[in-house]
Amino acid sequence: MFLSRNWMQVVLAWAVAAFATATVVVAVQNAKLEADLRDVQEKIDIYKELDVRPTLQRERREDNIDYRLPTALLPKHYELYWHPDLDTGTFTGQEKITIDVVEATNQIILHSYLLDVTNVYVLNREVVEYVLEVERQLLIITLTEDLVVGSSITLGILFNGNMTDKLVGLYSSTYKSEAGDQRNISSTQFEPVYARQAFPCFDEPAMKATFAITVVHPTGSYHAVSNMKLSESNYLGEYTEAIFESTVSMSTYLVCIIVSDFASKSTTVNANGIGEDFTMEAFATPHQLNKVDFALEFGAAVTEYYIQYYNVPYPLTKLDMAAIPDFSSNAMEHWGLVTYRETALLYDESYSSTLNKQSIAAVLAHEIAHQWFGNLVTMKWWNDIWLNEGFARYMQYKGVNAVYPDWGMLEQFQIIALHPVMVYDAKLSSHPIVQEVESPAEISAIFDTISYEKGGSVIRMLENLVGSEKFEEAVTNYLVKYQFENTVTDDFLSEVDLVTDFDVKLLMRTWTEQMGYPVLNVSRGDAGFLITQQRFLSNKASYEEAPEDSEFQYRWSVPITYTIDAWEDDKIESFVFAYNIDTEAIALDADVQWIKLNVHQLGYYRVNYEDSLWDALIKQLIAYPARFDVADRAHLLNDAFALADASQLSYKVPLEMTAYLGQERDFAPWYVAAEKLKALQRSLMFNEGYVSYLTYARTLVDSVYQEVGWSVDANNHLNNRLRVSILSAACSLGLPDCLDQAAQRFNTWLQNPTAANRPAPDLREIVYYYGMQQSTSNSDWDKLFELFMEETDASEKLKLMYGLAGVQDAQLLFNFLVLASDESIVRSQDYFTCVQNIASNPVGEPVVWDYYREQWPQLSARFGLTNRNFGRLIAQITKSFASQVKLEELQQFYAKYPESGAGANSRLEAVETIKYNIEWLKQNSGDISDWLSGTSVPLTKKNRL
Ligand code: BES
Ligand code: ZN
Repeated sequence: MFLSRNWMQVVLAWAVAAFATATVVVAVQNAKLEADLRDVQEKIDIYKELDVRPTLQRERREDNIDYRLPTALLPKHYELYWHPDLDTGTFTGQEKITIDVVEATNQIILHSYLLDVTNVYVLNREVVEYVLEVERQLLIITLTEDLVVGSSITLGILFNGNMTDKLVGLYSSTYKSEAGDQRNISSTQFEPVYARQAFPCFDEPAMKATFAITVVHPTGSYHAVSNMKLSESNYLGEYTEAIFESTVSMSTYLVCIIVSDFASKSTTVNANGIGEDFTMEAFATPHQLNKVDFALEFGAAVTEYYIQYYNVPYPLTKLDMAAIPDFSSNAMEHWGLVTYRETALLYDESYSSTLNKQSIAAVLAHEIAHQWFGNLVTMKWWNDIWLNEGFARYMQYKGVNAVYPDWGMLEQFQIIALHPVMVYDAKLSSHPIVQEVESPAEISAIFDTISYEKGGSVIRMLENLVGSEKFEEAVTNYLVKYQFENTVTDDFLSEVDLVTDFDVKLLMRTWTEQMGYPVLNVSRGDAGFLITQQRFLSNKASYEEAPEDSEFQYRWSVPITYTIDAWEDDKIESFVFAYNIDTEAIALDADVQWIKLNVHQLGYYRVNYEDSLWDALIKQLIAYPARFDVADRAHLLNDAFALADASQLSYKVPLEMTAYLGQERDFAPWYVAAEKLKALQRSLMFNEGYVSYLTYARTLVDSVYQEVGWSVDANNHLNNRLRVSILSAACSLGLPDCLDQAAQRFNTWLQNPTAANRPAPDLREIVYYYGMQQSTSNSDWDKLFELFMEETDASEKLKLMYGLAGVQDAQLLFNFLVLASDESIVRSQDYFTCVQNIASNPVGEPVVWDYYREQWPQLSARFGLTNRNFGRLIAQITKSFASQVKLEELQQFYAKYPESGAGANSRLEAVETIKYNIEWLKQNSGDISDWLSGTSVPLTKKNRL
């Protein structure tokens, strides 16, 4: 306890300084502490007469709360000293903040939350009182006199806090060592508003400062890492102080420390002349060290790509990565020390599927993209978080594509990012990309699919509009111009504007400042084609309710590209359809058979055609699918179904289009089709026509199912992705052979569940889920649960957890739900995934719904209303509800618990989805079953608006 005593002496010294009760004489062990004490000694006189009042914890409730910090004071430098105690799960800390005075004030206002602030001093000033204001998460320090403009002050604070039962701030994480004993580590997660839970600070992204960090850790197998390299280690017996180099100027949300006994491996990142080479080191629990090789190899490769792409040297001298056993999101881009959940970093070919491997690469590529875009240049405020997240989302696909060109990442953007967000963004509950946010709950909630996927999609559209070279040049200029500073959306667009010769800003404002997107309606005109645009809403009834609240009247400046049957495959024409123009005409010969707009679906809009044009496209697809490339085929399928779902096109069109799928063998279009076939199954379930639907859908997948089979190719990434997509659809749709195969594999393995007997990693989720689905014995579930409990590999554990949710017995699912709320069974980080898995099973859906409502008080107490994953749960659980009864249940629930926190939007979305589902059944189920029974009428406009 050598250092602890030492530490206590410092605490004591500070306390003495404040309360001036005695003279301080302490033997100190190191220069830093000595210096601190000298400071304190000097201040004793000042504080002699001072009455620092004890901290008041004030609750504050106002309707119009101003959450923003005043700008009178700007922090410049933090000296931080943290001692996380891994045994007790608590930490103590002290800090000195150097602050510039910009406006005269007698108050120092900064953030602090869930911290016990034990003392506050201001060098050469008198503190009247300090108050912790809970609602705004502020520490308000009042001084006797105004601070002088242009001067600089030093603020010292002593604090301590708790690290257990949380995944944000400075928190503890645990794991079992190979020998089976529990190990504790501590780590941090500060974005967006949690740095204030680890140290009082000016916790806004524009309040950049430098940080000199010292971390105390147990001597021996434990060590500490932080954003910067270790500069000095101070051995103090049982404890050691790790002193890190001072950081560059950066935002508080990027600060990170980890105290652990992790092992590491490293590699060199070759800067190829743009800056210096540097080391990349990957940390994991010691027995999993063999799982970091892939991340290191890919991490270095993608970093090298970014250095070339950005053409800006990597701003720090090292880049570490660490896999943390308990982690709230998937990964976090702390500057110089990216943290991940284990499934997002660790790769082991005996556990990880093709999709796991791709996800690891994608997450790394995403976080490393942030090291420049986000960390070096940061948004001023969370309103513009899309700049960070949308850009990184887009870059992650480019980054992976650069390293693995055969993974088809550019088409995968379309199916994984673009298609899903276009569903979300066709609702009235959506929101613009740039959105005002203030409170912690609002800030958490804005990390959503609009910021990420729509943000990424409009950046992709912009890149294709201006050309990739010019776009890259603009990115470099932007990074150089604003390095170490903060920006708003307009700053980025200005740089793009400068490298082009048209008004990029105005065009982009139509996409970033109003929600939603258009559908272009294409018809034949006298001398070619006519195009009009209209906002696309998935529920016809929404058109009447939609507020007219946009400056651009919900019209967009649309980058249009098109191609026609008569042209060479790669000939594309383009123009911009401006938001303030009603109709555009494309002059073409009358004998054009088909025209296809939005080539490769690089634009963020849908295209509807008059019936004869859809007919021609379908004929072409069936006659010779390769006339359209993979992205165009995926696009045609997606648009046709989405338009039919929205009652803007007869369902006959997408259904007839599916006839071509017999010839389709590429992943992206099949992914679209397979997802749609599963979604239609869920929509039609418990409705007439379900049985004939299943027959039709099974026939569709049968031939491709036979072809992909059950053996996994060693090295064909896209074929592996295709296989899993097809097997999952085939099993879901109940293709008898698929279910038999899954059950056989499940039973063989469960009888003797050795590692060697496991199915191939790619097949595991399907085998576990559908094997469990078909099992009627409770003991199978128990066995699977036992395997789940014993499993230590994080990605395997998730696969088993998914399998457990496949059982068809409501009682077992209920039991599972209850068990899952025990943290020693399901880690908090995985809880929402587990609940969602159960809710996605039609048998589990009502079980979860009852449980969620019944347990709301306990759940909201456990996770807190600002938790964005908790907030999102409501929309996920209720996404298949399609009746008035369910809608009323939902509304009753809202009335009973009106406080929704970060779930506010999710609640609106849930209501809107249910209304849409009800409407969808009315509009479409009849048409679908008519078509299936062969009695459909010819293509008509009856469903058009
Ligand atoms: N900056 C985020 C992490 C984050 C998310 C912090 C939400 C606070 C709230 C990070 O860059 C990120 O986007 N992580 C993603 C993974 C990534 C591959 C999209 C995540 O955690 O899901
Ligand atoms: Zn991100």
